[in-house]
Amino acid sequence: MTIQFADISRSVLATEYAVRGPIVARAAELEKQGREIIYCNIGNPQSLGQAPLSWNRQLLALCEYPALMDLAPQLFPADAIETAKAILAGTKHGLGAYSESRGVRFIREAVAEFILERDQIGVDPDAIFLTDGASKGVQTILRLLLSGPLDGVMVPIPQYPLYSASITLYGGRMVPYFLDEANGWKLSRPMLDDALAQAQAAGTRVRAICVINPGNPTGAVLDEANIGMIVDFAQAHGLSILADEVYQENIFLAGDEFVSFAKVLHEREVKDISLFSFHSCSKGFLGECGVRGGYFEYRNVPEDVAAQILKLQSVCLCANLPGQAAMYAMVRPPKPGMPSYPQYAAERKNILDTLKHRAIFLAEGLNKIEGISCNIIAGAMYAFPVSPCRLGARIRSTPWPCWRPRASAWYLAPASVRPSAPPTSAPPSCPPPSRLRRWSRRWASST
Ligand SMILES: Cc1ncc(COP(=O)(O)O)c(C=O)c1O
Repeated sequence: MTIQFADISRSVLATEYAVRGPIVARAAELEKQGREIIYCNIGNPQSLGQAPLSWNRQLLALCEYPALMDLAPQLFPADAIETAKAILAGTKHGLGAYSESRGVRFIREAVAEFILERDQIGVDPDAIFLTDGASKGVQTILRLLLSGPLDGVMVPIPQYPLYSASITLYGGRMVPYFLDEANGWKLSRPMLDDALAQAQAAGTRVRAICVINPGNPTGAVLDEANIGMIVDFAQAHGLSILADEVYQENIFLAGDEFVSFAKVLHEREVKDISLFSFHSCSKGFLGECGVRGGYFEYRNVPEDVAAQILKLQSVCLCANLPGQAAMYAMVRPPKPGMPSYPQYAAERKNILDTLKHRAIFLAEGLNKIEGISCNIIAGAMYAFPVSPCRLGARIRSTPWPCWRPRASAWYLAPASVRPSAPPTSAPPSCPPPSRLRRWSRRWASST
């Protein structure tokens, strides 16, 4: 007898993944029928025409097929050949062999230096794991944290559905907390306290809080004060923090900057909560989603727990080696004075300028549509507009009906969510002209 639907895992059946759910399935059907579909359900820049960075692809080509160094050296800048040789020497056996489970040490050391340079903080290369995209790292840590059906993890609403799907898959409870739309989608302590209290009242043992910064789908960029508040909250309740920082290069407004949780923890000398930070080569200006490169770095994790993380990672042997090499290319870009630098800098600028242009174009365009309002897109790659109209109603100037309920508001969101309770804040109205003028000024001054 073949495998039966009724016999498969309950948690697999319960898992929902909206980013690749029914709307995408319907789009695929229409595509098969010959319709042209532009998939905007997930940040997949190269599927929308973004070219890969030459530096990345040169290194990957040379590492995948080292014979090119002799067969066609004229195709590659000298620094790319030198760097590819260094990567290959670091792997010892090339990209076709398993690496150690944490990932190639030489590449982890480069990641550690990248974090040191970014945050001016010490990093232990053995607290870094190279992963198949950030997703696998997030799943490893959720797997570790969820020890039974009462265990819960706090997840932002609106969220990126990796979190809800994985928590369900691992048999835990998602504890939704709402982001404060009126305050640029930052986190609010009363909203966090409220979500935690509700979960505890329902018997949930809350283990951790996930934070996405810059936010998907909100585009919010958290400042140091907001991150400090989250750290205080986690400390007060003994929660681990999962800091999803895959959009750290995607910041569009002058005056905003990426602040890592690792830096804030270090500066506050916080030692009593564990932090897991995630990064990826899928976003930023690389957009190498298909390469599946990522890493996580942990802090304040006792040795016996660290050994279990290593064991978990060992079950799948190691992350894919081309993805690991791509992480090296990401954290060790050409420096000024190197032959590849001018091309690298020009390509990087072009991609970031294009993304910023799209962020401005999209938010301004949405705000011009009657009945729709959209917060400023400060970072990441998404717009999260609202339309405060009734179910099924049509906005006069647009041909489509509204389709997502949120109390009395309606969301048109790229990443869909199903909060267990409606948010308590009032539905937002169209941003006042003064706010739009302020955004325009900030965008203009950040060009
Ligand atoms: C917030 C967030 N985290 C993680 C991921 C997944 O990244 P990766 O491709 O590295 O698995 C995405 C992808 O869109 C994302 O938006």
